[in-house]
Amino acid sequence: MKSHSIKELLQTPLLNQEVEVNGWVRTFRSNRFIALNDGSTIDNIQCVVDFEELEEDLLKKIATGAALQINGILVESQGRGQSVEIQVKDIFVHGGADPDEYPIQPKKHSMEFLREQAHLRIRTNTFAAVMRVRSALAYAIHAYFQKNGFYYFHAPIITGSDAEGAGEMFRVSTLDPIKPPLTDKGEVNYKEDFFGKETNLTVSGQLEAEAYAMALGKVYTFGPTFRAENSNTSRHLAEFWMIEPEMAFYDLKDNMDLAEDFIKNIISYLLENCERDLIFLEKRLLDEEKTKPMAERSEMSLIERLKFIVENKFIRITYTEAIEILKNSKPNKKKKFQFPINEWGADLQSEHERFLVEKHFKCPVILFDYPAKIKAFYMRLNEDGKTVRAMDILFPGIGEIVGGSQREERLDVLKEKIDTLGIDEEELWWYLDLRKFGTAIHSGFGMGFERMVQFATGMGNIRDVIPFPRTPQNAEF
Ligand code: 4AD
Ligand code: MG
Repeated sequence: MKSHSIKELLQTPLLNQEVEVNGWVRTFRSNRFIALNDGSTIDNIQCVVDFEELEEDLLKKIATGAALQINGILVESQGRGQSVEIQVKDIFVHGGADPDEYPIQPKKHSMEFLREQAHLRIRTNTFAAVMRVRSALAYAIHAYFQKNGFYYFHAPIITGSDAEGAGEMFRVSTLDPIKPPLTDKGEVNYKEDFFGKETNLTVSGQLEAEAYAMALGKVYTFGPTFRAENSNTSRHLAEFWMIEPEMAFYDLKDNMDLAEDFIKNIISYLLENCERDLIFLEKRLLDEEKTKPMAERSEMSLIERLKFIVENKFIRITYTEAIEILKNSKPNKKKKFQFPINEWGADLQSEHERFLVEKHFKCPVILFDYPAKIKAFYMRLNEDGKTVRAMDILFPGIGEIVGGSQREERLDVLKEKIDTLGIDEEELWWYLDLRKFGTAIHSGFGMGFERMVQFATGMGNIRDVIPFPRTPQNAEF
């Protein structure tokens, strides 16, 4: 007999027919009611065991966490809380779960505890909902670009260039770590390494995406990126996924328009397709916020926040305007910022970004035209000679969710920049070629996938929106 997913059974009930489901026991009450979940939806199906008496042996095995196959008749439910239930005719236990050992019991577990059980935490409602939303978001992202004429481009994961400067890198090497071959100067001789040079895991696919945009027109990457920064925050991972569109003939305004439209579009998709999970996550967040002081609670519920993003225009201001706002802000005057804003040129910290978004504008903000000094070498220099065509999108509760720019397409300007920064021109020979042959204005941005999942699910810690998080001192599983 073909078995059905619980989602199917709840959507198109095969009333009064014999059905088969497979799933895991969430709870077992009164030796009679099994709440079964198979991951297809947040909802469980109630299975009512009406045997005269259950065999002692079987009874013992039907515990939280056990995997069961249940055959029975789908009937309208007598009890409250569900429309249909299964009158059980037969139970097959695929595998039991000893209650003395199984860590995921039906009670509240702390997020910290669940992180240590990352292989089992997905069996909780919260993590299953988050991961279903994550999957839907990935789909929406691909769908958006594919519909809009972008080609999916696979940037290399192992890279020989260290020029992006987006963060510290993880070295990839097969050299003997105890006795590596040395040069005459006593340094490690990477010429003898696997690739004949020093290589690392990529921090971004942008530079390679630029090459592809200059032939395919519009491309995007969607893949893992790696940063060996020692930042133990709720918004940083050492391995995270990034989406990087790159477009030929786009200027900064086109770039900002695309980013805003893209974000609105993928969030709309979630609102339309993940309702059950979002309702659950919204309630979870409300419960969590009740434990916080009033001032820290958000004014909007999760779904309200998502709708707000879709329905409102993002504020766009220059870095220079932002600095003026910050300089004159209450927390700055009252010396509440850990990093006070005194002058133009200061790098913005997350406390400043969050002030702008959460307190001042109460709206997503796109900051653009940053000082050249605090941004990457490839960003296009403005006429003023001191700012570059950079843009960051700042989100409430998250801070920076997108970073991007119009790229420097002028060979002479780019070369000068590289030289002043002391970057080796040879290393970037192919990147400079793009400016030598058929150069054109072009732009792109990078969106941190997990930061968007965090925003969409209301999860406070980025470690709880990726299946097996990698952070400093942590690569279990
Ligand atoms: O601002 P970033 O460093 O920009 C780039 O890498 C550019 N090459 C993008 C481009 O123009 N193609 O990173 C882009 C985004 C950030 O805005 C943030 O959302 C996310 O990636 N991000 C991280 N997410 C999780 N953990 C980290 N350690 C992250 N670092 C950046
Ligand atoms: Mg950035």
